[in-house]
Amino acid sequence: MCGIVGYIGNREAYPIILNGLKRLEYRGYDSAGVALYDGSDIQLSKTQGKVADLEKKVSKEISTKGTLGIGHTRWATHGVPNDINSHPHYSNSGDLVIIHNGIIENYAAIKKELSNRGYTFKSDTDTEVLVNLIEEIKKQHKVKLGKAVQIALNQVVGAYAIAVFDRKKPDEIVVAKLGSPLAIGIGDNEFFVASDATPFIEFTNNAIYLEDEEMAIVRRNKEVKVRKIKDDSLVDPYIQELKLNLEQIEKGGYEHFMLKEIYEQPSVIKDTYRGRLLAEQGIVKLGGLEDYIQKFTHADRIIIVACGTSWHAGLVAEYMFEDLARIPVEVEYASEFRYRNPIITEKDVVIAISQSGETADTLAAIKLAKEKGAFVYGVCNVVGSTISRETHSGTYTHAGPEIGVASTKAFTTQITVLMMIALRLAKEKGTLSQRDYMLHLNELSRIPGHVEEALRSDDKIQEIAAIFKDASNFLYLGRGYNFPVALEGALKLKEISYIHAEGYPAAEMKHGPIALIDEQMPVVVIAVNSNHYEKVVSNIEEIKARKGKIIAVVTEGDTTVKELADYIMEVPKTPETLTPLVTTIPLQLLSYHIAVLLGKNVDQPRNLAKSVTVE
Ligand code: G6P
Repeated sequence: MCGIVGYIGNREAYPIILNGLKRLEYRGYDSAGVALYDGSDIQLSKTQGKVADLEKKVSKEISTKGTLGIGHTRWATHGVPNDINSHPHYSNSGDLVIIHNGIIENYAAIKKELSNRGYTFKSDTDTEVLVNLIEEIKKQHKVKLGKAVQIALNQVVGAYAIAVFDRKKPDEIVVAKLGSPLAIGIGDNEFFVASDATPFIEFTNNAIYLEDEEMAIVRRNKEVKVRKIKDDSLVDPYIQELKLNLEQIEKGGYEHFMLKEIYEQPSVIKDTYRGRLLAEQGIVKLGGLEDYIQKFTHADRIIIVACGTSWHAGLVAEYMFEDLARIPVEVEYASEFRYRNPIITEKDVVIAISQSGETADTLAAIKLAKEKGAFVYGVCNVVGSTISRETHSGTYTHAGPEIGVASTKAFTTQITVLMMIALRLAKEKGTLSQRDYMLHLNELSRIPGHVEEALRSDDKIQEIAAIFKDASNFLYLGRGYNFPVALEGALKLKEISYIHAEGYPAAEMKHGPIALIDEQMPVVVIAVNSNHYEKVVSNIEEIKARKGKIIAVVTEGDTTVKELADYIMEVPKTPETLTPLVTTIPLQLLSYHIAVLLGKNVDQPRNLAKSVTVE
């Protein structure tokens, strides 16, 4: 969690850092701070609140001059969000200043030892302990900052992406990474450091992504030197050419990133299958999969590990893989999987799904699966992310940057990739008739058009949102392929409107949630054409009998549910296997409009972060 950014070069650092922090706010936004070197000393300002609050405070508090600086936007782990716990943190002498994304797990023991040596601490953070450890090592060993950082990091347990500089040597920033991401942008006699490339995309297309346990000293007008933290060996860094552009990370006229991202789905789903799905020729070809098809077809089972919305995409995939390719699937929360001593063998294939490619629990699950000999395949959005590098092979979703904290286009593009994998495996195993296989390919290529059509109901959905915005609970029901969609619909509402919502398999309702239903309770039911249609109709009758308010997602032209439901949201007809890609759309819009009507911060909901790089 947390976003870090730094600059050293010939321009004014502050505007670059401030803008970078705004772009990284998706990573955390409970406090923010900057430290700049103004030519003679450090100017530091930090505050609880958002980057906009910092901007106000800085304008009153410090000089923003200087061509070297670091900044931080925080999602609290150690210490409540307040001004003091905000980063950057000074060392006791005031010489060193640090920003940190991650957790130092053994900070308490180190703090005790430093306290015995006379160090004092202003904050409750692990980060302040780290900067003082670096200071102590620097003094004790009489070494330069880079070396002191290296020795210190060999003593700490945990995860970090750090940037630190010394006011006595204001021509370098020392950075290091383990577990949390860190990119170095290489400009013309200038360098940028950041949690991802978005803060420097308008300045350079060249970046080095540090690997775990690597550090770098970034010096003004010099080459970047990358070393292994453990043994000090020099690394020849790979300079990656970035394909991001500025437009992709801006709102493009939409009021919120979330809305922009919802509306991008027709085009990004196309990007996801472009060149991979050749419907007319009957071909699905995924570069990362072709060499490993046998691993999948000979696997005893597929285990899917993920968190949050990606876990819901995994649940949809369970239906697809079992139904179409006849491969047994288990879907696991990465956080549970990693700690429950799971039985994994070399005959298992593990698929890790992650938008960010940085989620700590998913990453740990991957490491565990690899240790036990499983083949691990990644489905990630962020190119070059840690998970995409840690997996044996994988497929990118190509959804483009997702900035809104509530995940939308990542979900539908993940399902698109997973469907392509299922179809490719079905073809290989001969578990689908040629007719059904071709039908699926054709129908998948029609999904962007269907999503576009589903988006046309936006105004109507906004009206429904206005009617139900003050409800304190919602129930979401679905069956089969649309049970995970019900979970995802409920999650979206909770995340951004803070209304309690529960997703349930429609048939399970009678085993508990039915007790909640009264005339106050809106129940969103996904009742599209499917094998379970009649059963879902019966479930709707059960809700009606208890006076619940029914908002139904139905297939265009539906008449039965239309008569029963209080409100309907229509989606185009598509085979049941593909319905999650369209039924999700109205649920995303419903949550979005409710949250906007309630005046909530849609793109940055409280307590959440886009990328959870701590466990
Ligand atoms: C966080 C985000 C969710 C996301 C989950 C998994 O909780 O707020 O939107 O679904 O992490 O993230 P990942 O990047 O691994 O898909």
